[in-house]
Amino acid sequence: MRQSRRIGVLLLLMIFMVFQGCEKQEVQEKTTLRVGVALYTQDDPFINALTDCLKKEFQKKESDTLKIIMTVRSGKEEQSVQNHVVEEMIDAGCDVLCVDLVDRTAPSKIIEMAKREEIPIIFFNREPVEEDLMQWERIYYIGGDARQSGIMQGELATRLIQENSRIDRNQDGKIQYVIMEGEAEHQDTIIRTNCSVQTLTENGVVLEKLRYQFANWNRAQAENKMTQLIHQYKDGIELVLANNDEMALGVIAAYDKLNYPPQKRPAIFGIDGLKDGLEAVKNGTLQGTVYQDKEGQALQMANLAVDLAKGNSITGYPLQNGKYIMLPYQKVDGENIVDYMKK
Ligand code: GAL
Ligand code: CA
Repeated sequence: MRQSRRIGVLLLLMIFMVFQGCEKQEVQEKTTLRVGVALYTQDDPFINALTDCLKKEFQKKESDTLKIIMTVRSGKEEQSVQNHVVEEMIDAGCDVLCVDLVDRTAPSKIIEMAKREEIPIIFFNREPVEEDLMQWERIYYIGGDARQSGIMQGELATRLIQENSRIDRNQDGKIQYVIMEGEAEHQDTIIRTNCSVQTLTENGVVLEKLRYQFANWNRAQAENKMTQLIHQYKDGIELVLANNDEMALGVIAAYDKLNYPPQKRPAIFGIDGLKDGLEAVKNGTLQGTVYQDKEGQALQMANLAVDLAKGNSITGYPLQNGKYIMLPYQKVDGENIVDYMKK
C-alpha cells in the first residue's frame, strides 16, 4: 500500500515535470523582450535625446507577437553605481543590455556579469578600449566617428576664417583661440580637440593657443569658465572650438551676460546639432555645428539589440572589425541650417 502510494506520488511528480518542461519551451518562444539601458547620467541633453530616439525605435518594432520593455536607469556619474544598476537589470531578467559607461576604461565588471548570464551588451557613446571589447564575442559598440566630427568642425572653422578676414580681429595673421573640452578621458574630447586643431593647421590657418578648459560637456560650467577667460583676454579671443554644443551655448551665454556686441565676439563652433544648437546657428550666435546622427545610432542599436536578444544572425550589419558601428556626422552652418531646422 505504502509502496503504491509512493509510486503514485512519483508518477504525479513526473507528469508535473513534463508539463513544466513543455511550458518552459513555450516561454522560450519569446514574446516579451527586456532591454536594460544604463546611462552614465540623466543630466546630459545629447544622451537624453538619443534615449528618446531609442525608445521610439523600440516602439516601432513592437507587434502583436512582440512586446519590448525598455528600462532606463542612470549611473549617476559613478561607475560603482552603474555596475549595481546593471546587476539589478540582469537579476530582473533583461535579455540585452545597452550601456553608456560612466568610466569608459572600466567596463570589466559589467562584462563579467553579463558574460556569466550570457546577456549580450551594446556599449554606446562612450567607447571602451579595443582590448575590453575583445573580452567576449557578444559585445558591440555603436557611436559616432569622433575623428570625423573633429575634422568637420575644423573644416567649418577654416572656411569661415579664410572667407572672412575680420575673424583675425587684431590682424596679426594668427587666430587666437580657446577650446572648451568635454570630460578628460572621453574619446570625443581627446579626438575632437586634436582633429579640429590639426585640420585648421593643415589647411594653413595659423593658430595661437590661449587656453584649453575642461567643462565636462556642461553649459553652466562652460559659461563659468568662459566668463573668466573673457575677463582675462577681453576681446582678444578670436575663435572658440567647443567639443559639444552645450558648452558652445555656455560660451555664448557668457558673452550675452557681459553684453558683448557681435563684432567683439569670437567665431564659435560646437558639435551635436541638438535643438538649441541648431537654433543658435539659425540666429547667427553660433557659427556652425556638426550634426551627430542620434537617429541613426538609435536605429542601429534597436535593430542590433532585438537581433542579439532573439539570437538572430547579425551578418547584415555594417560591423567594423566585427564589433563597431560608427555613424557619420554632418556639417551644419548658416548655409544648410534650414534643412536641419525641419528635422
Ligand atoms: C558626446 C556628445 C556630448 C555628450 C557626450 C557624453 O558624443 O557630443 O554632448 O553627450 O557624448 O558622453
Ligand atoms: Ca589674431
